[in-house]
Amino acid sequence: MKGLILSGGKGTRLRPLTYTSAKQLVPVANKPVLFFGIESIVASGITEIGIIVGETKDEIRAAVGDGSQFGAQVTYIEQDAPRGLAHAVMIAEEFIGDDSFVMYLGDNLIAGGITSLVREFEELGCNAEILLAEVPNPQQFGVAELNEDGTVRRLVEKPPEPRSNLALVGVYMFDANIFESVRRIKPSKRNELEITDAIQDLIDRGYEVHPHKVRGWWKDTGKLADMLEANRIVLESFDVQRGPGKIGKGSSVEGRVSLGEGVELVDSLVRGPAVIGAGTRLENAFVGPYSSIGENCELVRCEIENSIVLSGSEIRDIGLRIDGSLVGRNVRIVKTDFKPKAYRFMLGDNSEVGIT
Ligand code: TTP
Repeated sequence: MKGLILSGGKGTRLRPLTYTSAKQLVPVANKPVLFFGIESIVASGITEIGIIVGETKDEIRAAVGDGSQFGAQVTYIEQDAPRGLAHAVMIAEEFIGDDSFVMYLGDNLIAGGITSLVREFEELGCNAEILLAEVPNPQQFGVAELNEDGTVRRLVEKPPEPRSNLALVGVYMFDANIFESVRRIKPSKRNELEITDAIQDLIDRGYEVHPHKVRGWWKDTGKLADMLEANRIVLESFDVQRGPGKIGKGSSVEGRVSLGEGVELVDSLVRGPAVIGAGTRLENAFVGPYSSIGENCELVRCEIENSIVLSGSEIRDIGLRIDGSLVGRNVRIVKTDFKPKAYRFMLGDNSEVGIT
């Protein structure tokens, strides 16, 4: 089998971060979301991986390279525009050839990896396997309706009146019959070639599509709230190691905390689960549970929890605790003493600031 990871797209829901950076590279527990996907594909024994890339191709290539850091061989497949998940399959045909493959959406995280799913697909010998999870808001997903015997009756993309609460999770397995289906379907109302339509075409042509209900958690990290939840889940369930950073004068750490190389704590408290990236300095600071602080940040006289801060950012002299926040690279949040006393912002397009 081969692997196909979709890492193109626009990432409009994570602007402004995605103006300057690929959404699949936003870190969860200080590791790009995309890396979790690559690692779980490799763990299932698949090492030939194609990655669909769009506008952010240079950044994705720079981070993933030839795949050898993961024990994989990576081939990049360029998509001229985000024309839909089924379009991504279509342009991967040459890379996949006659093989079966697992398709993984590069901004998705799934508990416990995919090894047992890949094995199940191989053992069943079906033509496709889809993963389904119960969600409270099926209108926002591809939704599956099942027959009484548990087989798939129908798949609908973002139905206004969903007939079930079973959403398609961002991992799919296919044999080569999918290529004919992606050629047979027409673009949807939003002008994309939908993977739901392609799978429906497999069903209509009598191919066997096996549904597998996901029991553990699964997260599509497309939005801020999902990103923070993924960060909480990963920090909760991963074995966070203390790491080489130093706990300096007047400082302490509680719970599972990872301190990167060269981390410096001065009169500060870090309460896990939390990760602090290499070269970051804390002074008179509190970093609370479910925080991932990137590399080379500076946190001085401030408190933060349940947040993700990317590398090179500075937070200084902030009176109220920061919570539920996603802070990009090289951001400065500092108190100023200029007159008049006022808030001073320089924010990118589509930024969001919440003030109490
Ligand atoms: P989506 O989250 O459905 O789309 P998007 O990245 O355009 O995001 P937004 O809705 O915020 O604008 O995409 C799921 C994954 O598939 C994501 O990793 C991007 C990738 N993708 C492609 O590689 N090619 C495509 O044509 C599309 C639509 C998505």
